[in-house]
Amino acid sequence: MAIKFHESTKEFHLYNEQISYIIRVLENGQLGHVYYGKHITDKEDFGYLIEYARRDMAPYPFEGNSTFSLEHLKQEYPTFGSGDTRYPAFELEREDGSRTVDFKYKKHEIFKGKKDIEGLPAVYVESEEEADTLEIVLEDKLIHTQILLSYTIFKDIPVITKHVRFSCEHSEGITLLNCMSGCLDLPDKEYEMVELAGTWSRERHPHTRELNYGVQSVYSMRGCSSHQFNPFLMLKRKNADEFSGEVLGFSLVYSGDFLAQVEVDNFDVTRVVLGIHPNEFRWELKQGESFQTPEMVMVYSENGMNGMSQVYHELYRTRLARGTWRDKERPILINNWEATYFDFNEEKILDIAKKAKDIGVELFVLDDGWFGKRNWDNCSLGDWYPNLEKLPNGITGLAKKIEEMGMKFGLWFEPEMTNKDSDLYREHPDWLLADTRRQYCHSRNQYVLDFSKKEVVDHIHAQMRAILKDAPVSYVKWDMNRAFSEVFSNGNGRSWQGKVRHKYILGVYDLYERLTGEFPEILFESCASGGARFDPGMLYYAPQAWTSDNTDAIDRIKIQYGTSYVYPISSIGSHVSAAPNHQVFRDTPLETRANVAFFGTFGYELDITKLPEDEIEKMQEQISFMKEHRKLIQQGVFTRLESPFEGNNSAWQVASEKKDEVLMAYFRLLEPAQGKFERIYLKGLEETAKYSVQECFGAHMDCGVHYGDELMYAGLSVSDCSAGIPMLAREQQGDYFSRLFYLKKVEE
Ligand code: GLA
Repeated sequence: MAIKFHESTKEFHLYNEQISYIIRVLENGQLGHVYYGKHITDKEDFGYLIEYARRDMAPYPFEGNSTFSLEHLKQEYPTFGSGDTRYPAFELEREDGSRTVDFKYKKHEIFKGKKDIEGLPAVYVESEEEADTLEIVLEDKLIHTQILLSYTIFKDIPVITKHVRFSCEHSEGITLLNCMSGCLDLPDKEYEMVELAGTWSRERHPHTRELNYGVQSVYSMRGCSSHQFNPFLMLKRKNADEFSGEVLGFSLVYSGDFLAQVEVDNFDVTRVVLGIHPNEFRWELKQGESFQTPEMVMVYSENGMNGMSQVYHELYRTRLARGTWRDKERPILINNWEATYFDFNEEKILDIAKKAKDIGVELFVLDDGWFGKRNWDNCSLGDWYPNLEKLPNGITGLAKKIEEMGMKFGLWFEPEMTNKDSDLYREHPDWLLADTRRQYCHSRNQYVLDFSKKEVVDHIHAQMRAILKDAPVSYVKWDMNRAFSEVFSNGNGRSWQGKVRHKYILGVYDLYERLTGEFPEILFESCASGGARFDPGMLYYAPQAWTSDNTDAIDRIKIQYGTSYVYPISSIGSHVSAAPNHQVFRDTPLETRANVAFFGTFGYELDITKLPEDEIEKMQEQISFMKEHRKLIQQGVFTRLESPFEGNNSAWQVASEKKDEVLMAYFRLLEPAQGKFERIYLKGLEETAKYSVQECFGAHMDCGVHYGDELMYAGLSVSDCSAGIPMLAREQQGDYFSRLFYLKKVEE
């Protein structure tokens, strides 16, 4: 790994054994983009890759020179107007309304390691040897403003991170109207764009479209990263698939409004920008002030989409997630939400906890409904003290009783919200993030608190801290159940209003930082009406996230499959819930519900006190299984094998880094009449090693010993009456069927 600066050509080459990224200072002092992709050998001059071709009607900055126009040049951090009329990476306004800028290279610095970004989540290193960083300073002398472009390249992985800081020294100040975290100009448009899209209870389904002229984008203007789109996009070559071909991943470490946009110009140049959404963004910088963008993380893969995902998984699991829980196996929990909703008391909770403890569950999570006078969703958010009618011994008393049983205790909060029927709202009606002079929307009877105000964050912090200090709480589920609507920060002036959406997220991060700092032993799980804030920003504070309110196993195959494009298995909150399912009313076998939920943090969310004994026995088996295999599942290498979006089947596997253990899950959505024979082709095994193959659960069928190459190239037969696999029992067939196989390397 190295970052080279070639003085004679003013080229920067960031490279490791897998990738290269090349930047060059252009004749006009601005930064040109030369190359990003598979590693190429370093040399002094890649200038021939700058394409200057003369075209009619282009504006040229140098009089008499009609070859240099920004309209055609690939750039690092382009602006609008100076010849380039594509969408820019940033836009700012001076006091007199001028938006013309001219940022030229001023200086740079190259150093080992990577700096933290103050107040914002970011990928980090644990030793200086893990990465090198390049910081380039651009300056616009007329407006005394500097832009610092920061690039980090990692040692053994194909990753580059970027972020940008604006600093203003002009006495009149400037106003930022748009500032993306990074831009990438690519020399052609022969890509497909893949994004993760959905809605509540149908989050992160992958969608693919061919790039075309003009703009294609995904975004959120909802105040959170959203159910609808994820702050991520992928560009893949048309021949790339899960296992091979070139794929470029772009992910934004941010939890608020974002824009991820691809523009193709009429010369087939593709421009990717990623950053805070410019909608309602207007950030005034006074003299001496600066603005820092979030970080974007680019992954290059020549091993298809799985190749890209595996890099994100490893990076986000080990160098974005932090804290005590980062490397630990996650506790198997039971959550009371779908068991009781708001209707519970201490006795009911203790009954559920006791029964769960008996079969090996490790953590009881008390969900919504424990505070203020909350018996429905119309009151008490913001009043974070226990409802003593339901819980006469308070949270502390209940938590202690659960601890005495030998279980850990977890608690739900929704810190960023309030209801009108709450003490908080009655005392502080001006704390709503809404223009309260006109009609404004509720959502689920609740309103967003103005987290751009420090006093609001302080108030919520004090209440949460009091509970967490007093009660033995080991886990917090931090929910956020509505999107923004009429955003206005009451009592604050015009300048504040353009900052409020970003300041809100900074307030959320600040509260997370305070609480994770004060209670480092607590495991935080983020949540937003299910998966509306499943993003890298959250993972920095909470190493796991509630993936979706949809707990139906069949739907979850798709949701978890899509989520795995970017996010590690250790972050995927997954529970076995009741059948019929509460969201889609489907009746799926307990085995399949568990086989899906195993590939995540694993837990239960059902009324265990009402289940028949045979199901309780099966659950006990599932829990022991998860305890035995969760290290492999949560820290192994995850590979998608068959997409549930393409047919009736789906399969995935997780393998240990040493390739000596693999767990493979096969799902068959509907029972086909006279179905064809099915094989699953495993990946990443040692070709000449022998693996014993066992079907987990049920009959614990011994499926023989096979070589790695055989399992990868000839495949493992998973249909019910093929060679090597005995006929399946009748009750193991039918719709929503699944099988789980455990492979272990055996000695000769
Ligand atoms: C959200 C969460 C659920 C549950 C409810 C409680 O919808 O996603 O898991 O916590 O809120 O109100």
